[in-house]
Amino acid sequence: MPLSHIRCDSVELKPMAQRLADRLSVPLLRAPGATQSSILPCPSTTADYFLELVDEGLRLMPLIGTLHGAIRCDFEGTVATHRRKYGGGNGQDIAKAVGISGKCKPHVLDLTAGLGRDAFVLATLGCQVTLVERNPVVQELLKDGLARALSITDNRELATILARMDLVALEAQCYLNGNPNIPQPDVIYLDPMYPESRKSAKVKKEMQAFKTLVGDDHDADHLLDLALGAARFRVVVKRPRKAPQLGNAMPHFSLSGKSTRYDIYALQKLPLEL
Ligand SMILES: C[S@@+](CC[C@H](N)C(=O)[O-])C[C@H]1O[C@@H](n2cnc3c(N)ncnc32)[C@H](O)[C@@H]1O
Repeated sequence: MPLSHIRCDSVELKPMAQRLADRLSVPLLRAPGATQSSILPCPSTTADYFLELVDEGLRLMPLIGTLHGAIRCDFEGTVATHRRKYGGGNGQDIAKAVGISGKCKPHVLDLTAGLGRDAFVLATLGCQVTLVERNPVVQELLKDGLARALSITDNRELATILARMDLVALEAQCYLNGNPNIPQPDVIYLDPMYPESRKSAKVKKEMQAFKTLVGDDHDADHLLDLALGAARFRVVVKRPRKAPQLGNAMPHFSLSGKSTRYDIYALQKLPLEL
């Protein structure tokens, strides 16, 4: 894992940071007030990132300062709030792809949760979303983002949205095969890593960092097969606009925007009400 250490400069947050360091099996760098004997060895020089726990939350930081800014999971910040309020409602491609309409709010199983941005949009539109994520660092960022937003929000609308999002810290196949009692998801959503770079420099840097952290999702074709066998109504795959289809499987239809395309594999017609 390209993660060298956890850093925490707050005495109050240190116990939480220590638990995090134990879970991820990386050292915690001393907080002010720590004794000399608790100073830990220098972080590994082969790593690219460290995690920092501060009052505002958990963030992924590059070891080389200029690489990119902090990456964190933020459901109450300006970007998420703007998307929630002015994102375009059911007219957005992601809503059409999933099949959301006035009375149809499918239960979505997002098998590639990442930082939960797409899941948040779907939950904002009224869907119950189960987020499955396999990367331990991404799981921690996501867990922190959800818990923090829930703990500080006095915004009832936001709290209702967050209550629709359930995180499962597992690999997708383990989740699907290891839980015979899970209800069949109406729609399965997939957004695996794709090697193509995006246009904006900021996004590019963030994407690059994310890719270094989780790697390319080489098993994405297999994930599509799994999803097609598990979903009730649809499987939706998010791809860069010009990318080939996942597994070269032809979707029933696609929705293309400026940079993104949604490939929709329709298994059954969605009902008017769900
Ligand atoms: C491109 S990111 C998803 C971004 C996400 N849609 C968002 O809006 O933030 C892909 C994520 O899927 C996760 N992933 C890929 N294959 C997975 C699998 N088989 N099981 C669980 N997570 C997986 C990766 O670890 C990575 O965090």
